[in-house]
Amino acid sequence: MKGIILAGGTGTRLFPLTKVTNKHLLPVGKEPMIFNPIRQLISTGITDILIVTSKEHMGDVVGLLGSGYDVGCDFTFKVQDRPGGIADALALAEGFAGGERIVVILGDNILTHSIRPYIEGFKKQTSGAKVLLKKVGDPERFGIAALDERSKMIIQIEEKPQDPKSDHAVIGVYMYDDKVFDFIRNIEISERGELEITSVNNIYAERGEMTYATVDGEWTDAGTFESLKYANDLLLSIDNRIKE
Ligand code: G1P
Repeated sequence: MKGIILAGGTGTRLFPLTKVTNKHLLPVGKEPMIFNPIRQLISTGITDILIVTSKEHMGDVVGLLGSGYDVGCDFTFKVQDRPGGIADALALAEGFAGGERIVVILGDNILTHSIRPYIEGFKKQTSGAKVLLKKVGDPERFGIAALDERSKMIIQIEEKPQDPKSDHAVIGVYMYDDKVFDFIRNIEISERGELEITSVNNIYAERGEMTYATVDGEWTDAGTFESLKYANDLLLSIDNRIKE
């Protein structure tokens, strides 16, 4: 399996913190934000990692991470010319994936516990996809899942619903088989002008090919001032070390 970290976007919700730097390079605890998803992938045994970021910030990202030798992994870098959504950024990873299964992590998603058990679960799946869920108090901010708790399958995901039907947020960690790139070619641009990862996930859900697991430990995104502060407190409290 290969790992992909999506670290593009303009980070407008954090302006002016992100006016001259990339959101994923901001400090969270004692390290830049992007170290948490990197540590996550390494904790699962994945060391072949693609980082997608914007052309404006690629120099800084490469300067920070280098080849990966120091942390025991192998980085590949790819430029997203303009922000076009999560699925648009993921489309750039097709050649890197080379037909293998992938784990995709949004670079602003912070987790205190290793995702290894869920990756192991996905490896036992013969095909399809898997998403991770966490209960939240502000479901309007996220992709929200309708579940079949008996079969452990996702029925449907609604992106930032005004009238949320559950409080199960789909967090920014996605596992896919090699069909994902064909599905991205089949989705349409959303009202907010992006290729949404939720549209891709709903294709898997409709086909009855999307499982889920609820994550242990704490999770947050770090794309707003409030969530960035929370992420900072969370990682400081564990010295930026992921719990196995
Ligand atoms: C994205 C996804 C959303 C998901 C969230 C997790 O939202 O579109 O489905 O719940 O990441 O962090 P965004 O951060 O782009 O608003």
